[in-house]
Amino acid sequence: MVLGFILLLASLLDKNDAQDLKKNTTQTEQTSTKQKAFIVLRNNCNTCHATKRQLQLFTLYNMDSLRLEINTQVFITRKMPKGKRNQLSEQEEMNLKNWLNGLN
Ligand code: HEC
Repeated sequence: MVLGFILLLASLLDKNDAQDLKKNTTQTEQTSTKQKAFIVLRNNCNTCHATKRQLQLFTLYNMDSLRLEINTQVFITRKMPKGKRNQLSEQEEMNLKNWLNGLN
């Protein structure tokens, strides 16, 4: 009786662990796409935006809500990143695109 209860409990815990693990894995994947995009914004955009007070600094908290502007400036009008020396590498563009596409 007691053993049965313990086994039941153990199997319930197992299931929860498996579910938690699955949840955490998807979360990590999402975070890492976003994290990679943020690193691009931080390294290639904030460098400049940080020095001009009227400009938006990109953070992990505001980047999602700024994605339309970012997409427009980087991929449609191609005004950003400003300056010939500040071109994004293919990998950096890809990291931004993966994040932008994932949010649609
Ligand atoms: C060399 C400096 C510089 C770099 C690097 C740069 N920006 Fe900008 N950014 C500016 C300036 C200056 C403006 C204001 C508009 C203008 O002068 O074209 C601006 C404007 C913007 C705007 C329009 C919103 C606003 O506040 O006016 C967005 C969105 C933007 N930048 C995104 C980016 C992104 C994304 C990157 C990196 C991929 C980037 N910028 C890199 C200087 C820079």
